[in-house]
Amino acid sequence: MDRQRLIQTAREDLAHAKAGTIQQTPSHVEVPADHYVDETRWQQEIKQIFKRVPLMLATSAEIPEINDYKAMTVLGVPLIISRAENREVRAFFNVCSHRGAQIMPEGRGNTHRFTCPYHAWTYNLSGQLTGVFAEKDFGAVDRSCYQLTPMMCLERAGLIWVHLDPEPKLPIEDFLCQYDEALAGFNFENWHYFDSQVVRGPNWKIAYDGYLDIYHLPILHKATFGSDFPHRANYYPWGPHQRVSGPNPGLIEFEHLPDDEWPLEAAMGGVWTIFPHISIASFDGGGRGVLLSQLFPGETVGESITVQHYLLQDKPDEEGEKGAREQFKFLRYVVEEEDYATGLKQQVALASGAKKVVTFGKNEGGGSRFHAWVDLLLQTPDQELGALFKNPFDPLLSE
Ligand code: FES
Ligand SMILES: [Fe+2]
Repeated sequence: MDRQRLIQTAREDLAHAKAGTIQQTPSHVEVPADHYVDETRWQQEIKQIFKRVPLMLATSAEIPEINDYKAMTVLGVPLIISRAENREVRAFFNVCSHRGAQIMPEGRGNTHRFTCPYHAWTYNLSGQLTGVFAEKDFGAVDRSCYQLTPMMCLERAGLIWVHLDPEPKLPIEDFLCQYDEALAGFNFENWHYFDSQVVRGPNWKIAYDGYLDIYHLPILHKATFGSDFPHRANYYPWGPHQRVSGPNPGLIEFEHLPDDEWPLEAAMGGVWTIFPHISIASFDGGGRGVLLSQLFPGETVGESITVQHYLLQDKPDEEGEKGAREQFKFLRYVVEEEDYATGLKQQVALASGAKKVVTFGKNEGGGSRFHAWVDLLLQTPDQELGALFKNPFDPLLSE
């Protein structure tokens, strides 16, 4: 557990609260407006980012039991994530070894075998071919040559990362930059999976900017979160991943304690983002909960799809279930009617060509750092990808 690093972030939040200050980048950062609307660049982002770095595609709480699985399609790639007999998580392309049919329909479930709907070839949850229908007629099949095509995956901190690239260039551990050790403070592996819902929004970066943006909270969300909501944020990077939190005077009660006696919860607040497309924000509804938002580029440059997952620390009772349902509905409203409704209009406005750049302020370092990482990945060839994460640096400070 990267405990010391985490407690440092909480101490910094406290120091800013006491001094009445906030983190600031050395200068404003301009991002070309066409980065949000350019079709060619958008395709590069899918290729160079989403298909080159591992993506956090499932939570452990979605497939907690042996033989649980989740089938999904990500950027046109059909895949299955499963928990095998030894409890290990595996991921496979959802593509039959016979003639390439998709084996499992999208969704979650529990099964002893995956059976292809086309000619009933069957596979176990470790991806081994276990049955060939009418094999005498088909001709003998060497099972070892017909396994499901595995995808590199890793379960850490109750979250599951998968590489869409069948020949990944980047070890998942390196990509995480030890952020998983900090995320482990949530103990997500023991949480309860409540539900998911899908929200459609603008370009994935317009949408994602909003999750790194605290500045807008008392303004755009005045009707929901309130106009006295704090607008200032500190950003703590682990490579491209960032924890976002505010100056917190409440931490003063722990100030005199040595690092190893600080309660971990003191450092788990705020918004946790996982590059390039995840945000985890804490809420209280039906008990301690988080909204885990998973963003994907949509069908066109101006569209994205967000899967909102709601997780609860404890399985709710009837009352808690009601509270969680209301909270989840409320969060959909906030994102759909306030964030994305604004973002969809911003998309149209930026496409007009009226502005050459958009500007991130000195206290919007989260957004500018995110865009710097996007740029970096677009510029970095495969053979240099590993080095980018092995000794991660902060592109905001390297200028
Ligand atoms: S394509 Fe799957 S069994 Fe034929
Ligand atoms: Fe927002």
